[in-house]
Amino acid sequence: MNSSPTMVNSYCSIHSQRDRAMSQGKVTVLHGPNLNLLGARQPEIYGYETLEDVNNTLREIAVLSGWEINCFQSNHEGALIDAIHTARVDGTSAIIINPAAYTHTSVAILDALNAFEGKVIEVHISNVHKRESFRHHSYVSLRADGVIAGLGTYGYQAALNSLISESAT
Ligand code: DQA
Repeated sequence: MNSSPTMVNSYCSIHSQRDRAMSQGKVTVLHGPNLNLLGARQPEIYGYETLEDVNNTLREIAVLSGWEINCFQSNHEGALIDAIHTARVDGTSAIIINPAAYTHTSVAILDALNAFEGKVIEVHISNVHKRESFRHHSYVSLRADGVIAGLGTYGYQAALNSLISESAT
């Protein structure tokens, strides 16, 4: 039936208008390079959940708590930096970021995060400290208020839940 997409769309827009009106906070979730391949890429390390699964779970948690959420993935450093610049000025109160390989190389992402005034939580699906030594250093950790590593994709939920419960206190 061709009426169902319309129904779904209007349902979503009613929700987002209501959520905006009662928004408790606004979070941007940034995923770095190769995380679009989540579920298919080295599942023995990163698990079988797809990025869409991860984002959908985060959206559910956010909506239930009256938070606005934007999820964004890019394989390009500049696009991630642009997203951080947007978050600086659009009322975003916190960034959850898995910079992936840029964690270990990107002074530019660190500089962009240093220009963002809200909370920053860095998430790694794997325990980077148990892996190759080049993964042990993170530029982003110099800015992050919290760092979660090695909890699998649950780390994103832990990050969001901590932001939500902190904002409620
Ligand atoms: C990662 C760890 C990084 O070292 C790696 O380059 C990634 C993913 C993680 O989530 O465990 O792409 O950030």
